[in-house]
Amino acid sequence: MLTKRFFNYIYEVFFSFLLVVHWLFKFITSLFYKFFDRIIILSFIVFVCFSSLFSLQVVEKNADPEEVLLSFLRRKVGLTGTKYGCGGGGCGACTVMVSTYDRNQRTVVHYTVIACLQPIVTLHGAAVVTVEGIGSTKTKLHPVQERIAKAHGSQCGFCTPGMVMSMYTLLRNKPQPTMEDIREALGGNLCRCTGYRPIIDGFKTFCESEVGVEQTCYSPDSPLNSYLHTLITELFPMDCFLPLDPSQDLIFPPELMIMEKKVSGDALYFQGERVNLVAPFKLSHLLELKAEHPSAPLIVGNTTIGPKMLLKGVYHPLVIYAGRISELKAVTWGETGLTVGAACSLSTLQKEVEKVVVETEEEKTRGYRALLQTLRCLAGKQIRNMAVGSLFDKQGHPAAQTKQHGMRSIPLDEKLFADFGKTVLRPEEVLLSIDIPYTKPWEFVAAYRQAQRREFAFSFLNAGMKVAIKEGTDVVESLSIYYGGVGPTLVKPKLTCQQLVSRSWGEDLLSEGCRLLKEDVDVSPSIHGGRAEFRKTLAISFFFKFYMQVVLEMRERVGKLRIMSTLWDGVSDADFPLEYLSALKPFKNEVPQGQQSFQLVSEAQPSADLVGRPSMHQSAFQQATGEAKYYDDLPLVQGELFIFMVTSTRAHAKIINIDPSEALKMPGMVTFVSAGDVPGANCRLWFNNPEELFAEEEVVCVGQIIGAVVAESREQARRAAKEVHVTYHDLQPVFFTIEDAIRHESYFEPKRKVERGDVDEALKTAEHILEDEIYMGGQEHFYMETQGVIAVPKGEHEEMDLFVATQHAAFTQELVGMALGVDSNKITCHVKRLGGGFGGKVMKIASLSAITAVAAHKTGRAVRCCLERGDDMLITSGRHPFLGKYKVGYNNDGTIVAADITYYSNGGSTLDESIMDKAVLHMDNGYKIPNLRGRGVVCKTYLPSYTAFRGFGGPQGLMVMESVLHEVAVRCGLPAEKVRDINMYREEQSYTHHKQPFNPTDMVRCWDECLERANYQDRLRAVQLFNSSNRWKKRGISAVPQKFGVGFSKGFCNQGAALVNIYKDGSVLVTHGGTEMGQGINTKAIQIASRVLKVPVSSIFTKETCTGNVPNAAPSAASFGTDAVGMAVKDACEKLMRRLQPLMEKNPQNTWKQWVNEAFFQKTSLSATGFFMGPPTDVDWEKGEGQAYYYFTFGACCSEVEIDCLTGDHKNIRTDIVMDVGKSINPALDIGQVEGGFVQGVGLYTIEELQFSPDGVLMTRGPSQYKVPALCDVPAELNGIGEPPVFFGSTIFFAIKAAIAAARTERGLGDAFPLSSPATAEKIRMACQDEFTKMASPPTDGAMAPWCLDV
Ligand SMILES: Cc1cc2nc3c(=O)[nH]c(=O)nc-3n(C[C@H](O)[C@H](O)[C@H](O)COP(=O)(O)OP(=O)(O)OC[C@H]3O[C@@H](n4cnc5c(N)ncnc54)[C@H](O)[C@@H]3O)c2cc1C
Ligand code: FES
Ligand code: FES
Repeated sequence: MLTKRFFNYIYEVFFSFLLVVHWLFKFITSLFYKFFDRIIILSFIVFVCFSSLFSLQVVEKNADPEEVLLSFLRRKVGLTGTKYGCGGGGCGACTVMVSTYDRNQRTVVHYTVIACLQPIVTLHGAAVVTVEGIGSTKTKLHPVQERIAKAHGSQCGFCTPGMVMSMYTLLRNKPQPTMEDIREALGGNLCRCTGYRPIIDGFKTFCESEVGVEQTCYSPDSPLNSYLHTLITELFPMDCFLPLDPSQDLIFPPELMIMEKKVSGDALYFQGERVNLVAPFKLSHLLELKAEHPSAPLIVGNTTIGPKMLLKGVYHPLVIYAGRISELKAVTWGETGLTVGAACSLSTLQKEVEKVVVETEEEKTRGYRALLQTLRCLAGKQIRNMAVGSLFDKQGHPAAQTKQHGMRSIPLDEKLFADFGKTVLRPEEVLLSIDIPYTKPWEFVAAYRQAQRREFAFSFLNAGMKVAIKEGTDVVESLSIYYGGVGPTLVKPKLTCQQLVSRSWGEDLLSEGCRLLKEDVDVSPSIHGGRAEFRKTLAISFFFKFYMQVVLEMRERVGKLRIMSTLWDGVSDADFPLEYLSALKPFKNEVPQGQQSFQLVSEAQPSADLVGRPSMHQSAFQQATGEAKYYDDLPLVQGELFIFMVTSTRAHAKIINIDPSEALKMPGMVTFVSAGDVPGANCRLWFNNPEELFAEEEVVCVGQIIGAVVAESREQARRAAKEVHVTYHDLQPVFFTIEDAIRHESYFEPKRKVERGDVDEALKTAEHILEDEIYMGGQEHFYMETQGVIAVPKGEHEEMDLFVATQHAAFTQELVGMALGVDSNKITCHVKRLGGGFGGKVMKIASLSAITAVAAHKTGRAVRCCLERGDDMLITSGRHPFLGKYKVGYNNDGTIVAADITYYSNGGSTLDESIMDKAVLHMDNGYKIPNLRGRGVVCKTYLPSYTAFRGFGGPQGLMVMESVLHEVAVRCGLPAEKVRDINMYREEQSYTHHKQPFNPTDMVRCWDECLERANYQDRLRAVQLFNSSNRWKKRGISAVPQKFGVGFSKGFCNQGAALVNIYKDGSVLVTHGGTEMGQGINTKAIQIASRVLKVPVSSIFTKETCTGNVPNAAPSAASFGTDAVGMAVKDACEKLMRRLQPLMEKNPQNTWKQWVNEAFFQKTSLSATGFFMGPPTDVDWEKGEGQAYYYFTFGACCSEVEIDCLTGDHKNIRTDIVMDVGKSINPALDIGQVEGGFVQGVGLYTIEELQFSPDGVLMTRGPSQYKVPALCDVPAELNGIGEPPVFFGSTIFFAIKAAIAAARTERGLGDAFPLSSPATAEKIRMACQDEFTKMASPPTDGAMAPWCLDV
C-alpha cells in the first residue's frame, strides 16, 4: 500500500514537471509553426497500463507517432505478455483491452484492439489492460486465465494472452455471454496448436446455460457398448473454477477521467523523429489542417495506413488523427434511416444496425440485414473495433466537407471510388458522415461475399445488389449492382442495370441478366490476385442468388398483402422449385462442440500417480498470464544489437556486387555481415547436403540470405536493410514447378524405390487400368511465434550462449560452432519453449543462429534476430508440394491388384529435409495391395528449400494412395468406404510393402469403431437424401483408415537422454534433450518422474533444454519425443531410486526429504543421467526393405461437409476420429495433439494456399494472404479418441470431392474429375460446372502469364 502511495506521489510530481516542460515547449515551437497556436503540444503521452501488482501510469516523453502499442509495451514498459505474431492485424496475438472515457456518452467504454497497429499517441488518456493486468500466478489468476489453462486450451501458449484478452473484454461488457458472443469475440484470434475446441470448452463455462453436444447414439446391441464403459469424457473438472466476480475488475483510473474532462485547446500534437501527428478536437480545426496539409493522411483505426507505414515502408511526415472529433463519431437515427459519423468504428455501426434490425419491421431493414451479414465476416472483432466503416457501406450517401468549398453530398456509387484504395474525395476534403437509408417496401437488397476463409479474410469478390420494383407489380423500376473484386475499384455493370429496368422479375430477366453480365463484367486475366474465371463465375452466381432471394421476398410480400399472384406470372412455383431454396441459405458459423473420450486408468492406480490421467500443461498458468517467456521476451542484454536479413530478389543469378555503403550511413547502423565475415564454414551440412549460410557467388532462389545488417534497433536495421544494393546477372535455367523440373530432369539424389510383388505382370491381368495424377500444394508452418535467436558472446574463450527457438538444439549448437570455427563445448543453446514448431524449427533456425552468431562474433556484442512474419514465410519455407502419378490395375469389385506410383516432390533449391523416404514408406497406408511399386523423386527447383513439417511426407504419401482408392471406387460405382474396406490389411501377421511385420487388428478395429461411432451408413443415406432435395448445396461424407509409423527410419535418431537432479530440499529438476513446443513433453516428463520417484509433480520442475546439460540430443520430431525422452527420464529416475532404495528400506517411516538428506550426508550422488537407446530401425534402400519404424499407430477418421455449389464455400459439419495410441501418458495433451493436428490438416487440404509469382516470388507472406484455419473452420461437431495426425484432414477433402461429384452427376457430368489439394473455394466452384461457369470463359489467350504457379 505504502509502495503504491509512494509511486503515486512520485508520479504526480513527475507529471507536474512534465506539464511545465511541455507548456514551455509549446510556447517555443509555436513561434515557428503557424497552426500550433491553437493546439496542445504534447511531446509525451499519458496512459495507464495495468500490471498485476499495480496500475502503471505511463508517461512517455517524446512519444513517437511511429511507435505502436505492441513494441512500446514489450520493449519500453517491459510487459511481454502481449505477443508479436504478424505485425499486421491478422492473428490476434497482440490483443489488449483499451478503455476510454467517452465524453459524448459520459461513460467508460471497453474494447479490444490490435496492439501492433495502434499508435501509442492515439491512446493519450486511455487505459490499456494487458494480460499481465488481469491476474498473475503471484497474486491471483483471473477466471479467464484459469479456465483456458485448466481446459487445456493452451499448448504452446503463444496465442493464449490474445485469446485471454478477447474473452476478458467480452466479459467486461457482458458477464454472461452467449456462445455466439464467444464465437464473435474470438473470431479474430488465430491458434495454430489446439484446434480451438479446448479454448471454447474453457470459455463456454462462462455462458449462462452451457451448451453441450448430444451424445453419440449407439444401438443397444452395439459391440462397442462394453468398451464404452471403460471410457471417460471429462478432461477437466468443472466444479473447481474460480467464480467470475465483475466487482473485482479493474476500474478506469479516475485521474484519466479528470484529465479527459479537463482537456482544453484544439488538438494534441506529437512530434516524432520522422513523423508528426496532430489530433484535432474540432471538425473546424480538422478542416483547416486538411486545407493546409492536403497530402497528410487522415487516420482513425490505422488499419489501412498503419500496415502501409509499418510493413511496406510508406512514409508520411505528417499524419492527422480524426478519432477525437466527436462530430465525426455521432450516430443518429432519423426518419429516413441511419447517419453514421465518419469516425465511427465498424463495431459501433454493427451494434447500431443489430439493434435496429431487432426493433424495426423487417421490410425496412433489408439493407441493414445485408450489411450485417457482410460486417460479421469482415476482419476480426479487434479490427472492427478500430477501423471505421464509413466508406464500407455501398448504399448510402456520404457527406464530405472542405474548408474552402463547404459541404457536399456525394452519391455512394462506383464514381466515388477512383482507383484501388482511392476515392474521389479531394485531398483537402474530409468525409463527415454517411446516410444509410431504410429500404422501401418494394426495394430488395442483398450483399454477397466469398473469401478464402469464411471469416476474417478479404473477399475475392463481394457484391451489393438492390432492385426497386414498381409497387404491386413485378416490374423493375431500378436496379443497382456493384461488385468489388472484379477490377481495381468498385464496378457497376451499367448495361445490365439499365437493360433490366422495366422488365418483369422472372425467368427471362434472369437469363437476360446473366447474359448481360457475361458481357458487362470484364474481369481481366491479369487482375491483381488472379482467379479471373472464378471471379466472373461468382459475379453471375451472386446475381442468380439475388434473383432467387428477391423472388422469395416478393412472394412473402405478395402473400402479406394478399395480392393476386396473377400480377406477376413470372414467379410461379414451376420457376422456383423448392430445391433451389438451398442457394439462399448462407452457412451459419457455429461454435465447435464435441465429445472427447479416452480410456480410464485402472482403479488400482494410486491417485497421486498422474500417468494416464489428463493433467494440465506444466506452464499453462504462466502462458495464460503472459508470464511464460519465449526467446524474444528476454530482456535486452547490455549493448544488444538487432540483425535484419538481406535476401535475394532473383531466383537464379550470379552476384556481381553487394553494396552496403548507403545502408552503413543510416542512423543506428553498426555493421553489415556477409560470407566474408564467417570465420569458420559458411555452410550448413545435413547428411552431406550443403546449404550456404550466406550466398557467396550465386543465388538459387528468391529469399536466399545474402547478407545481414546489424543496427542498434529493429526499426533502424529494417530501414537499413532496404538500402543494401545487390547487383545480379541473371542466369538460366529458372524454373519453379515440379512439371518443369521433370522436363529439365532436375532431381536430387538419391531417388527412392520400394516394390513388392510383380507390378508389371499384375497390371496385365487386371480387369481395368486407371492412369491419373494428383497434385498437392505445400503448406506454411505458421507457428505463431516467428523464428529467432539471441546470440550473446561471453567475452572469453570464444564462448557464446544462444537463446533460441529450435526443435534441435544440438544441431544448432554444432552449426554455430562450425560457422565460428569454435568447438561445440564453447557454444551453449538454451531453449525455454517454442511458440509452436511443427517441424519448421529444426533446420532453418540453425542457419539463422549461425548468421546471428557471426554478427555477435564480429561486433563482440549480443545480437538479436527476430524474423518478421513476411520474412519468416519467405526465408524458411514449409511443407513440400507433391505430384503423384499413378497407374493402377483393379477389378470390378474394387480390389486393387497392382499400383505403380511415382511421387515427385518439389524440394526447392537445396535438399534440406527431403521427407521423401516417409512418403514412400507410408504409401501402402492400411491397404494390402499385392503388387505395389513406389518411386520417390525430389525435384530441384529455384525456390527456397522445403523442409520438415508435421507428418513429414506422410500426409502427402497417404493422400496419393487415398486418391487411388477414391478414384477406383468412383470408376467401379461403389461406395469409397467399401473399396477401402475390401483392400485393407487383415491378417494378424501382415507385412508392409517394405517388409516390416505388423498386426493390423487395431487398425481394423479403429476403422469399424469409427464408422459405427460416426453412424456412417445412416448418415450416408441422409447425405444422399439431402443431395436429392437440394440443387445448390451438396453434402459429402468420407472416411479413411490410417497406419502411421512412429520414430525415425534413420535408426540413430531414435535415442533420448535426460539428466535428473535431486536437491537437498527434496525438489527435483528434470532436464532432457527434447524441446517444449506446446506438445507437453515437459509435463509428461514430470508425470513419469513423479511415478518413478513417487514424489508429487509439484516437487518436480523442468527449466529449459540446454545443450550444456544434455548433449547431442536428437530433434524433437517424428512423434518420437515423448517415447525417447520419457524412457530416458525413467531410466535416470530408476537409477536414483536404486541409490535411495537402501535408505528407504532402512527408514521406511522417513519422508522423501529425509531420505534425500540422508543420501547427501552419505555422499550418494543425487544426480543421474538417463539414456534410451531406441530400436534399430533401418531401411536398406538397395533392396527397398527394412524395419523402418519402431511401431505403428492406427486410426480412422470420418468427416461430413456441405458445399455451396454457387460460391465454392464449404462447411465442415462433423468429424469423428478414433485412434489407437497405446497407453496415453496424458490423455488431455494427446487429445490436444489430435485435434490440433487434425485442424492443421483441414487447413492443408482445404484453405491454405501458397502462391508463387511466375518469377518465383512468394506472394502470400502473412495472415492477410495466407489463411490458416480459424474458429469458423473447425467442424461444428468434433468427436475424438486418440492421436490422429494431420492426414485425417484429408477426409474433408474427399468429402468435398464426393459433394462435388453429387452436383456434377445431377448436371449429367461425370463423377470422375480432377481436384488438386487444397480444395479451395475456387476449385470447388469451378468443379461444380454449370451454366454460370460456362459463361465465364477461360481468360487464356496463351500470351498472358498466370497470376501464380502450382509449384
Ligand atoms: C487484418 C485486417 C483485416 C481486414 N479485413 C478486411 C475485410 O475483410 N474486408 C475489408 O473490406 N476490409 C478489411 N480490412 C481493411 C479495414 O477494414 C479497413 O482498413 C478499414 O475500413 C479502414 O479503417 P481505419 O479507420 O482503420 O483506416 P485508417 O488506416 O485510419 O485510414 C484509412 C483511409 O481512409 C482515409 N480516411 C479515414 N477517415 C477519413 C475521413 N473522415 N475523410 C476522408 N478520408 C478518411 C484515410 O486518410 C486513409 O486513407 C482489414 C484490415 C486488416 C488490418
Ligand atoms: S501481431 Fe498483431 S495481429 Fe498479429
Ligand atoms: S496454443 Fe495457440 S498457437 Fe499455440
